[in-house]
Amino acid sequence: MSKSKHIKKANSSRREFVKTSAMAAGGMLLVPSLLAAKAHVDGDDTIKVALIGCGGRGTGAAVQALSTKQNVRLVAMADAFRDRLDESYNVLTSDDISDWSGMEGSVKGRVQVPEEHKFVGFDAYKKAIPLADVVILTTPPGFRPIHFEEAVRQNKHIFTEKPVATDAPGVRRVLEAAEVAKQKKLNVVVGLQRHYQTVYRRWVDMMQAGAIGEIIASQVYWNNDGVWVRGREEYSKKAGRPLTEMEYQMRNWYYFNWLCGDHITEQHIHNLDVGNWVKNAYPVRAHGMGGRQVRVGKDYGEIFDHHTVEFEYEDGSRMFSQCRHQPGTMSRVTEVFQGTNGSAPQPGILLSRSGHELFKHDGKNDLNPYQVEHDELFEAIAKGEYRYADAENGAKATMTSILGRMATYSGQVVEWKDAIASNLSLMPQKFDWNAQPPVLPGADGMYACAVPGVTKVL
Ligand SMILES: NC(=O)c1ccc[n+]([C@@H]2O[C@H](COP(=O)([O-])OP(=O)(O)OC[C@H]3O[C@@H](n4cnc5c(N)ncnc54)[C@H](O)[C@@H]3O)[C@@H](O)[C@H]2O)c1
Repeated sequence: MSKSKHIKKANSSRREFVKTSAMAAGGMLLVPSLLAAKAHVDGDDTIKVALIGCGGRGTGAAVQALSTKQNVRLVAMADAFRDRLDESYNVLTSDDISDWSGMEGSVKGRVQVPEEHKFVGFDAYKKAIPLADVVILTTPPGFRPIHFEEAVRQNKHIFTEKPVATDAPGVRRVLEAAEVAKQKKLNVVVGLQRHYQTVYRRWVDMMQAGAIGEIIASQVYWNNDGVWVRGREEYSKKAGRPLTEMEYQMRNWYYFNWLCGDHITEQHIHNLDVGNWVKNAYPVRAHGMGGRQVRVGKDYGEIFDHHTVEFEYEDGSRMFSQCRHQPGTMSRVTEVFQGTNGSAPQPGILLSRSGHELFKHDGKNDLNPYQVEHDELFEAIAKGEYRYADAENGAKATMTSILGRMATYSGQVVEWKDAIASNLSLMPQKFDWNAQPPVLPGADGMYACAVPGVTKVL
């Protein structure tokens, strides 16, 4: 197989990935990065990082980047809001980051962000990216295509959280930039961390190798209570004035599709991605149902509180998906597979058709996959190796979740080929605190939700 084919397929399956890594280790894929070349010339092995989106995950990801073995420094921070940036900076420079990393100690010695490298507002990313070798993209996913494109344009290695978009035009932008990233040999890790978790790596490898025969069905779940709400009143009080609609939606981003993509995209993407990974394929069509039943009210924007979707693959096999955000209901976040010769009832376990245990990995001693993502990324960068090309799968996993949302919002069968070609953009025309977001509340403060049978999604 040619070099380019190896890199092209690097993201298509873990087995391929492992093969590719092995080839890389053998020297066939080694390419000197700009950074390694620089270290060779001037002896400076510092890897500079910029954090774009300084919220919960961004702060955690920065801690993980700064906890790697390499000589990593955080040199720039960018956020839409100053208070979020300050909170993150305070955590990163505190004496104890154990709440964020599970590790004792502090990363403050590795934080070198002077005041003039703290950037705030919608264009903050543009000022932070040039200062770094590696960028961490952890804003709400609506902005990801813009930020990812810019980071690739500026030749940066990237850690980006999932999802990587909230609509089909955004997915296409990321796919195009992903191709450019491959040509430039920029390492890209996407925060679908199950790909960096030993139990999943081993379990999926075995299924892809045929341990339970052909996979004919999967069940994937993200059912739980739901997430935070950032109330309009609370933030208006903090600001000492009523928030503009744009400020409010940016604060309470989870509940607006242009920012979040609905919880089927924001959270359930993890499980849908595992379903695709095992099949080494993406669905060709989907149909489903969903709505909001419990989580109603003006604090909850426009998203549903439950979706159930049947995805169909080219070979006729199905992925049955459920996601629910309803407090007090059964919690279940996992994946299950049925094969022609057995089953996979939970991550790390494979059974024969008669119920005999074929494989068990309990995962108890596995490393934290959030840390492994950064350990592996920074090791590759420091060695000047091109190992990670996660963006294409990240974009297609995101598209799978958007396909599911299109199916539940419309109540129709939606074909992948139509969904990914859709020009329906959810994004605002303009990014400004006084600009109008694409959805607005009615006189009663409520936002309109999709109505299956009526809502058009393509
Ligand atoms: N892989 C995982 O397990 C995992 C876990 C949590 C979150 N995430 C992902 O991480 C991302 C962030 O989630 P979070 O929980 O940290 O949310 P958060 O609200 O805590 O943080 C988001 C931050 O981005 C900032 N921001 C918004 N728009 C911006 C812009 N245009 N430019 C710069 N900054 C901007 C916000 O002000 C906020 O500080 C999401 O995509 C989420 O899906 C992944």
